[in-house]
Amino acid sequence: METQANLAALLQFYADAGADEAIGDAPVNRVQSRRPHVPEKNAARAAVLPIMRAEKTESAPAAQAAESAPVAGAIEAMKEAETLAAGAETIEALKAAAQNFNGLALKRTATQIVFADGNAKAGIMLVGDAPGTDEDRAGIPFAGASGQLLDKMLGAIGLSRAENVYIATILNWRTPGNRAPTQEEIAISLPFIRRHIALVNPGLIVPVGGAAAKILLGKKEPVSRLRGKWFDYNGTPATVLFHPEYLLQSPQQKKPAWEDLQMIRAKLKELDLL
Ligand code: URA
Repeated sequence: METQANLAALLQFYADAGADEAIGDAPVNRVQSRRPHVPEKNAARAAVLPIMRAEKTESAPAAQAAESAPVAGAIEAMKEAETLAAGAETIEALKAAAQNFNGLALKRTATQIVFADGNAKAGIMLVGDAPGTDEDRAGIPFAGASGQLLDKMLGAIGLSRAENVYIATILNWRTPGNRAPTQEEIAISLPFIRRHIALVNPGLIVPVGGAAAKILLGKKEPVSRLRGKWFDYNGTPATVLFHPEYLLQSPQQKKPAWEDLQMIRAKLKELDLL
């Protein structure tokens, strides 16, 4: 019989593994086979039937393509996101559209929307990939320890959220257990962040961290190879910063991060944005 301590330890194990959200009212036994029990003499036929059905309806390459293609629901959600985002004429309207959009299941497990922070009239816009636990609680991007470090980094070159920085995020909702967002979740979120950037119309764009750089700039290289360079985002200069979470774990990277901040400051001055 399970003791209270055993159950508490099990719950802690789940939480540590990232399973920290209840997403249904009733538990589901995922260990139990989902295939219905088949009496012994019919078992062989039952095992072959699905294969025969699959062969009849589609070739192997078609089946593989179907497996990697976005599901119909995701395509519909992407279309709806495009329409909603394109229809938003102000940042407030865009936030309301993202808030009311039901095409992302993440909305149901997150505490609240994480949309943006800072001054929308700033010349520089930072963009992270997806909110984590601290941001989910606070309702703003880059909260908690990594947010504090980011604020210190920005402060070192005379920038602050209150005055001259705007910060947004590609996904507006925390993923359960902070898992990496799926390709579909990213694709569904992209129309909102693209419109967000267009409405803010910053003079400089800075994806924060490798994931945001990959998504926004379409790059495959790690952030260590992208940093220190200038890119183009639809006609706007863009560069990347190491994610502050990474800098907390790898303090030896603070020196190159400092150089990147100096480069950003010089560009802001050059463009008369500071
Ligand atoms: N991406 C992050 O890494 N953190 C945020 O707060 C928002 C986006």
